[in-house]
Amino acid sequence: MKYAKYLSLALVVPTLALADEAEKAKLMEAGKASFMTCAACHGMDGQGVAAGPKKMAPSLTGSKIATGDPAILALVIHNGIAKETQDYLGMMAPLGAALDDDKLAGVMTYVRNSFNNSASVVTPADVKKYRAQFKDIVGPVTRAKIAELEKK
Ligand code: HEC
Repeated sequence: MKYAKYLSLALVVPTLALADEAEKAKLMEAGKASFMTCAACHGMDGQGVAAGPKKMAPSLTGSKIATGDPAILALVIHNGIAKETQDYLGMMAPLGAALDDDKLAGVMTYVRNSFNNSASVVTPADVKKYRAQFKDIVGPVTRAKIAELEKK
């Protein structure tokens, strides 16, 4: 009987892991659907749609913004990136208003875990927190601002 509590732990831990997997699968599926919006520039393969000698947008494979601090990824998708160069034909538009918490969490989880990326899952509760955290940052963010936030 002494081992009963370890036995129940042994049953609970895998159940929790399964619940996490189910949550991730749900976010990935919803995220793939929402990624259609991003695919116009980043491509369904996440490599950036070719537009003559340039691309519409950068590849998301290995992107520090995509796979790093999820708060910064949320900010970038929410506010967009200020267009300071002509490196890409497109512009990273502010898409936060178009994506509710569920959709933003899904698309974030999707880009963090597709195109050979592997990073943590983002939940709708996380997204709510990030929106509150950055509510005072208005308009597209500059690369300098992103770098400053990455240092914190
Ligand atoms: C209209 C075109 C367009 C759409 C739509 C778009 N992006 Fe972008 N995205 C860009 C461009 C252009 C950049 C590069 C911005 C710059 O440096 O000027 C960018 C940059 C990014 C970056 C930073 C990459 C890096 O490491 O520098 C991420 C992450 C990103 N986009 C994710 C997304 C996601 C997720 C969506 C959909 C919710 C999306 N984008 C929709 C054009 C687009």
